[in-house]
Amino acid sequence: MDVVQKIIVANWKMHMTIGQALDFMAQLKPLISSATNKVAIAAPFTALWHVAESAKGTGIEVGVQNVNAHEEGAYTGEISVAMAKEAGARFAIVGHSERRKYFNESNHCVNEKVKSSLRGGLKVLLCIGESLADRQAGSILPVLQQQLEESLRSIAPEQLPMIMLAYEPIWAIGTGQVATIDIIQGVHQFCRKTLMTLWGESAAAVPVLYGGSVNPENTPALLAEQTVDGLLVGGASLKAHSMSAIVNHQILSRSSS
Ligand code: PGA
Repeated sequence: MDVVQKIIVANWKMHMTIGQALDFMAQLKPLISSATNKVAIAAPFTALWHVAESAKGTGIEVGVQNVNAHEEGAYTGEISVAMAKEAGARFAIVGHSERRKYFNESNHCVNEKVKSSLRGGLKVLLCIGESLADRQAGSILPVLQQQLEESLRSIAPEQLPMIMLAYEPIWAIGTGQVATIDIIQGVHQFCRKTLMTLWGESAAAVPVLYGGSVNPENTPALLAEQTVDGLLVGGASLKAHSMSAIVNHQILSRSSS
């Protein structure tokens, strides 16, 4: 039977000291050694190099949760794409709602970060998502369309293989309130359509992930949804047993099941 390969990305946020990250890796690796899904971990900067070293030869891809858009310069406290890459990052999460909310990142700023990540050779996991207020006002799709268009402004079709998208409704992040399959399906189809309107056929292969209160219990239903190419996992990615339970969930293709 054919197994459908999905992508599971851990977003550790501001968790995991180097010691904790290495303990986690030591526990996780044997638990997922026969997993068919792809695995990626967005580590904090300080643990990045250690996690990347520990991930060598496992197929686990390591990335960062943020980068600065400038190549270098007087930006105290910031980390450049080249620094992240040298420390082992292969991708960057860009536009996470916590960055937008707590660090005032606009779509324009997200766009600059997307462009500099791609220029520097990092893949991008672009996050978009509506707030509860947007949802209550009935303006979900226009908000998402604007985020997509502005965040990906002047990206060339040949750069699309370096881009993944994550739909993360803000009201579902860290709240235990996962979006329904109907909502996710509708939004994922809308994102795919918008990307294809903007970039044509080359957008068909851009993975669209879901994030927001993913846990081992809701993973089977989420991964079974055809429009979900993977999951972006926050809280449940911090423990090796819950992360491995999510990663090890196998989806069989419809034709073979
Ligand atoms: P959560 O976070 O899984 O804890 O809801 C997801 C995210 O913010 O990426």
